[in-house]
Amino acid sequence: MKGLILSGGKGTRLYPLTYTRAKQLIPVANKPVLVRVIEAIREAGVREVGIVVGPTAAEIKDALGDGIAWDVKLSYIHQASPDGLAHAVKVSRDFLGDDPFVMFLGDNVIEGGISSLIRDFADNAWNSQIVLKEVDNPSAYGVALMRPDGSIQQLIEKPPVPPSNLALVGIYMFDRHIFQAVDAIKPSARGEYEITDAIQWLIDHDFSVFPHIHRGWWIDTGKPTDMLDANSYVLEEITPDIHPAAQVDCASTVDSRVTLQAGAKVINSIIRGPTIIGKNTLIENSYVGPFTSIYHGCQIRGCEIERSIVLENSRIIDIDGALRDSLIGRNASVKRSRGKPSGIKMNLGDHSTLWV
Ligand code: G1P
Repeated sequence: MKGLILSGGKGTRLYPLTYTRAKQLIPVANKPVLVRVIEAIREAGVREVGIVVGPTAAEIKDALGDGIAWDVKLSYIHQASPDGLAHAVKVSRDFLGDDPFVMFLGDNVIEGGISSLIRDFADNAWNSQIVLKEVDNPSAYGVALMRPDGSIQQLIEKPPVPPSNLALVGIYMFDRHIFQAVDAIKPSARGEYEITDAIQWLIDHDFSVFPHIHRGWWIDTGKPTDMLDANSYVLEEITPDIHPAAQVDCASTVDSRVTLQAGAKVINSIIRGPTIIGKNTLIENSYVGPFTSIYHGCQIRGCEIERSIVLENSRIIDIDGALRDSLIGRNASVKRSRGKPSGIKMNLGDHSTLWV
């Protein structure tokens, strides 16, 4: 069994954070989503993993290297144009050979990992296994229509009038017959070779496609609110840990669901979990509330923050009022301005959003 991770997209819905960074490298609970995907695949016993990359290839290679740090062997597969998930399978043919494989979208985060799915696929003679999840907004996804016996009748990509609320989760298992399917289909109305159409081709040609209904949480981290939701879920899941090289002074309160990474320093502050504070980050005279991830090298001084993600080397200093539901990029600076005339001053990047 091999792994195939799709990490080619530009992540435009996460601008401005993704102007300068691949969306799959944005951390959730202080670990890039793509690393979470690699770990889920490795925990299922799959060690040979291909990553399909596009315009952000250099940054992804730089972050992951040959995969040795995660005990996997990574190969990079270049997708010259963003022509869809089925196209990504086509360009990965040499890497995949005739082996069965699990394909995982590099921006998906799922509760509980994929070990049992891989085991089921390995134990049965299915040609494909797909994962479905009941959602409130099926039109945003591929949608499945089921027969009364629980088999799949039809899969439709982003239907305006969805026939069910069962969305296709971005995790798929295939055997070599998928190559026949991806070669047979035509581009969709949005101009992409859809994996949904390729799976429909398998169904129409009597190959066995087994649906697994996922009952836990699942997030496709396309938008800032998705990142914050994924962050909350993952923070609930991780085992809290105070690194021996973290410091908390006696004027501070850090509750039992907080993780402090190496070199984190908490001075005269209150931290309520689930929350994670990154390496060499300083929290001083502040309140950090639940569901917050502050990444490495940050300074949070004289402010209140909760249910937010702050990326590396950013500073939030002496802010009036609490910062909530916020996503703050790298090397950002948010400070109180004491000069006259008073008012809000800003240097905002393109496509930034500010609520005042
Ligand atoms: C893709 C698939 C869709 C699936 C979704 C899951 O959508 O085409 O069927 O439900 O991933 O994340 P896209 O992210 O390309 O809009």
